[in-house]
Amino acid sequence: MKRLSAIGWMATVTVLSFASPKAQAQHTIIPIETKNNALVFQTDANRNVGIVYMGPRLSDKQEYGQVAAMYKQGADYTGVNNAAYATAGSRNLFEPAIAVTHADGNNSLDLQYVRHETKKLDDNTSLLTIYLKDPAYNFEVTLYYKSWFNEDVTEQWSEIRHNEKGNVLLNKFASAGLHLKAGSFWLNQFHGDWAREMQPEEARLTHGIKTLDSKLGTRTNLFQPPVFMVSLDQPATEEEGTVLYGALEWSGNFRIDLELDNQDNLRIIAGINNYASPYTLKPGEVFTTPAFLSVLSTHGKGEASRKLQQWARNYKILDGKGTRLTLLNNWEATYFDFNEAKLKELLKDTKKLGVDLFLLDDGWFANKYPRNNDNAGLGDWQENKKKLPNGIASLVKEAQANGVKFGIWIEPEMVNPKSELYEQHPDWIVKQPNRSEHYFRNQLVLDLSNPAVQDHVFNVVDGLFTKNPALAYIKWDCNAVIYNAYSAKLGNQSHFYIQYVQGLYAVLKKIRAKYPTVPMMLCSGGGGRVDYAALQYFTEFWPSDNTDPLERIYMQWEYSYFYPAISMSNHVTDWGKQPIKFRTDVAMMGKLGFDIVVSDLKEKDLRFCQDALTTYNTVKPIIWQGDQYRLQGPRENAVAAVMYVNAAKTNGIVFNYLVSNRYDAGSLLPIRLKGLDPQKRYTIRELNVYPGVTSTIDSSKVYTGEFLLKVGFNPEVKSGRNSVVLEVKAVN
Ligand code: DGJ
Repeated sequence: MKRLSAIGWMATVTVLSFASPKAQAQHTIIPIETKNNALVFQTDANRNVGIVYMGPRLSDKQEYGQVAAMYKQGADYTGVNNAAYATAGSRNLFEPAIAVTHADGNNSLDLQYVRHETKKLDDNTSLLTIYLKDPAYNFEVTLYYKSWFNEDVTEQWSEIRHNEKGNVLLNKFASAGLHLKAGSFWLNQFHGDWAREMQPEEARLTHGIKTLDSKLGTRTNLFQPPVFMVSLDQPATEEEGTVLYGALEWSGNFRIDLELDNQDNLRIIAGINNYASPYTLKPGEVFTTPAFLSVLSTHGKGEASRKLQQWARNYKILDGKGTRLTLLNNWEATYFDFNEAKLKELLKDTKKLGVDLFLLDDGWFANKYPRNNDNAGLGDWQENKKKLPNGIASLVKEAQANGVKFGIWIEPEMVNPKSELYEQHPDWIVKQPNRSEHYFRNQLVLDLSNPAVQDHVFNVVDGLFTKNPALAYIKWDCNAVIYNAYSAKLGNQSHFYIQYVQGLYAVLKKIRAKYPTVPMMLCSGGGGRVDYAALQYFTEFWPSDNTDPLERIYMQWEYSYFYPAISMSNHVTDWGKQPIKFRTDVAMMGKLGFDIVVSDLKEKDLRFCQDALTTYNTVKPIIWQGDQYRLQGPRENAVAAVMYVNAAKTNGIVFNYLVSNRYDAGSLLPIRLKGLDPQKRYTIRELNVYPGVTSTIDSSKVYTGEFLLKVGFNPEVKSGRNSVVLEVKAVN
């Protein structure tokens, strides 16, 4: 006898409808189904919950029950190789998701299925909850799986609790586990350093464990971000192949283990890094892990990233469907060398250029130890009286008089040893009492695990807004990693790394409660902190201090797999030797800004920038909210091309760049466009044409969508025409 109960698109298929709870648990199939995919759990006679399938969804849910029998991969000696949340110290022979020391000192854990439930949260979102319990200890884990139907995105996290007779030590406490089956697995990971963010590397996973992790405490993505891709059977391309994207939503130390086991299956375990962080859990206390995000595509990397970008805009990034401000930043234009008169000139330039906002960067604060370089002043958030005798207020006023908005840079988590804050609150600073201080960019980190420091950081932001209600933008920087991790306040030092991040989120939450929509840029000495937990509080992020447009083509390409254009701040600067048109075209692929000396621009360059901004204001909805298609990669081609298309498929923007200096390098072949409607007819017009130059593109010609998709279009990129932006428009 069979019973099928479906709740939304998450269904429970119970093969037995009678008998003891043990027997009932035996064949319970729990699929999470989204529009295209399914992640399927199955319980066994011992109440273990395993993952039996992750792939394209099947029409007949009953058939998920047949999946496991199709695999003849040799011995799983334990029956828990595919555990949904693998434990340590009992039978599991591979990397655990959770490892504990019970109150009685015992190190073993077994988690058995108790029950599960599914809840439809709204038309597009469901929540599956699986309750697990140790039969020998009063110890429980609840697994959560939140899924977005249309985007095929799932977030998973866990809650850990117990009622033992004393504290339990959590030695490992991952957010999630996944278990995949395929002939081979190909990991695409990213590494970097300052000015070299998001460098990709792809390799076949071999047996054993590959760990992606960070132990830096803050600026945790400096060497490695918490995002990756795994392709199944062969490396996925833009259009083809099965690929899983994973990302941990956590701004601190993370750890992602990818382990190929004796049966050639892949176990992925992701969570907070347990490095130096065994967590003491009191009876009755709940430890909630951050979420691990995943999206699966069976049609290549392009589809996976479009689904993820859509999800991010709709559900995650602050104001993801909203608008953004174009801006002029003064960091590279002045560095620390400015005063009120100079800034007033820059405010005039802001207006002249035609951007929405002026962003005052580092160097505006501190008096006893003025912030004239990165050696001093950090932490003393009072206007420097010499540079700004009339304060920020007068600049905000001046901005208003010029018809532009005003934004400001802060780095409130940090302190220079040469600062009043350091002198007044040595106990607020992360450092070891018995070791010498070690600096990163001449600075130290404030102890955000301390509530008094959280209040201080909140007050820095709140104070700026209270004094300057018209303040319209914040750039929140974070330049140092944590050395000598130690909190003078915290009782248990093992909780430090975790409570730091929790403290940061508490502050950001408080800021957002009071200032829900003011745009804030997430910056960390470039892209040292880019993750989906932080992006709930920020409208955009700074990918890298490296703004050489050639480098940015590569970096923005890699970031775009995981993050939508609306969240990516790209500034036109003086890095690189390319003409202003090339630099502007590259920066237009996301959220456009400038960091140049406007008054130094030649007349035609200025005119070009002004016109480009006018153009940007008309096409930005397509770039920000449209579907992105990576047409040709910079690593494999002389011409890199990226396209954005609106939902109605009536408007598209194509960016084309020459990335090779070789003889005759250029778009020798047409570039196939994507995302258009084959039935529609389109014209193609060149945008961002430099003053005095005549475009070689004939905008009166009409092409069918079919032609542009199958044959393509030649943007006529070549030396001397090394950057071409095209507008594709449907005609009636
Ligand atoms: C690092 C940031 O990435 C830069 O954009 C700039 O704001 C500097 N910090 C200022 O110190």
